[in-house]
Amino acid sequence: MATQISLSFLFYAFLVVSLFLLSKGYALGGGERETLESHSHTVETSSLLPASVCSHSTKGDRKRGSLKVVHKHGPCSHLGPDRYTTPTATQILTRDQSRVNSIQYRLGFNSGQNNLQDSLAKISAKSGRSIGSGNYIVTIGLGTPKKDLSLIFDTGSDLTWTQCQPCVKSCYDQQEPILDPSLSSTYKNVSCKSIQCNKLSSATGNQPGCSITTCIYGIQYGDSSFSVGYFGADTLTLTPEGILHGFYFGCGQNNQGLFGKTAGLLGLGRDQLSVVSQTASKYGKYFSYCLPTPSSSSGYLNFGKGGSSALKFTPILTDSRGPSFYFIDLVAIKVGGQTLSISHSVFQTAGTIIDSGTVITRLPPAAYSALRAAFRQQMSKYPMAAALSILDTCYDLSKYDTVQVPTISFVFGGSTEVRIVAIGILYGGSPSQLCLAFAGNGDASDVGILGNVQQQTLEVVYDVAGGKLGFGTGGC
Ligand SMILES: *[C@@H]1O[C@H](CO)[C@@H](O)[C@H](O)[C@H]1NC(C)=O
Repeated sequence: MATQISLSFLFYAFLVVSLFLLSKGYALGGGERETLESHSHTVETSSLLPASVCSHSTKGDRKRGSLKVVHKHGPCSHLGPDRYTTPTATQILTRDQSRVNSIQYRLGFNSGQNNLQDSLAKISAKSGRSIGSGNYIVTIGLGTPKKDLSLIFDTGSDLTWTQCQPCVKSCYDQQEPILDPSLSSTYKNVSCKSIQCNKLSSATGNQPGCSITTCIYGIQYGDSSFSVGYFGADTLTLTPEGILHGFYFGCGQNNQGLFGKTAGLLGLGRDQLSVVSQTASKYGKYFSYCLPTPSSSSGYLNFGKGGSSALKFTPILTDSRGPSFYFIDLVAIKVGGQTLSISHSVFQTAGTIIDSGTVITRLPPAAYSALRAAFRQQMSKYPMAAALSILDTCYDLSKYDTVQVPTISFVFGGSTEVRIVAIGILYGGSPSQLCLAFAGNGDASDVGILGNVQQQTLEVVYDVAGGKLGFGTGGC
């Protein structure tokens, strides 16, 4: 009977929610050679392709006291690779566009002069947010005794959730055993009347529900993925020294969608309920990560200040339209050492965020055109190939063992110049179709996004309290 009551409450909560919603120092495995002065990378073509073997880093162990980050679909993931669930490059790019559409929607940019196609894209993304292909995963511990859970790593959202027993309505197939809060001596349901329950509105975009006295959260992502369940609190174990009591998270009782075999999602956004905010008294809203290449095991996520290598900082900007997002000031782009002639206002009109869950970097249309023109000119000795989904500048490199790729650097406010590694420049699934790994937005007012392909191997430091973001090269 009790189960039936909560089941119907959950179903009701889900209905309400649904209805509501309808309204490296360039050391690349020996594959890459260059000097700081050079304006091109000479890379082995094979090093740009997906690898099937996990390479344990030559850099030695990742930082002490940090969490391990791996690419979800790469050979280092313990959730895969699985030939049945590993998406193709085209599927990854399609899901990536749905994530980008949902980010544009959440930011409320691009209202007004849309053509019909844009409007349709927006309606399908209207469900709020999209998980995209959630490319990186991190393993944390929850409960007492702690249970290890592999979660999607997401700087673009706030609420952390995991599937929970008894899965009142539905749980998808995950790799690790599903968390059973009744086996944890420290788990508590959050009351509907609590301040924390109220904070769900901004963290999820939905009003919380109430089942008897327990607060109910619901979050829906694009691609009809969602999680609905009890809002609970329990002990979060990040590292042996990094233990946080009373961490608020979603204990999902009805979960469906493109989460692969992960147990849920870790929200690293900027708003109140994110891990970053909830651990503020311990770590001062300071964290850093390095997103590894898909075939490397050396990626990490670290909370709190750690001795870092030489970093270059740029301010983190605040934008009331997107309290979850980390905005930065992109000022210029260099291709082959030359600054493209793009006026700063092109970047300022849209603004730029950094996002761990978007794969391909998105640029304002005028900036992308300039980048593409310069890149095509410097790559003119190579034969072009058909477009790959959203990527329109592709090359057939099947006859070349090595390829010379012009360098691409981003310049951020504070004269911070960040050089993108070669595998962040060409993307694709086969040597006959490797593509410039950038795309233009549909509208000049759509936000620019620094995606995870371009962040690979960089050390990225978020000093949220200090209002600045740092970049270092060769982080993992
Ligand atoms: C949490 O609340 C739900 C719904 O009221 C209830 O079924 C469940 O037993 C509660 N769990 C605990 C540990 O109190």
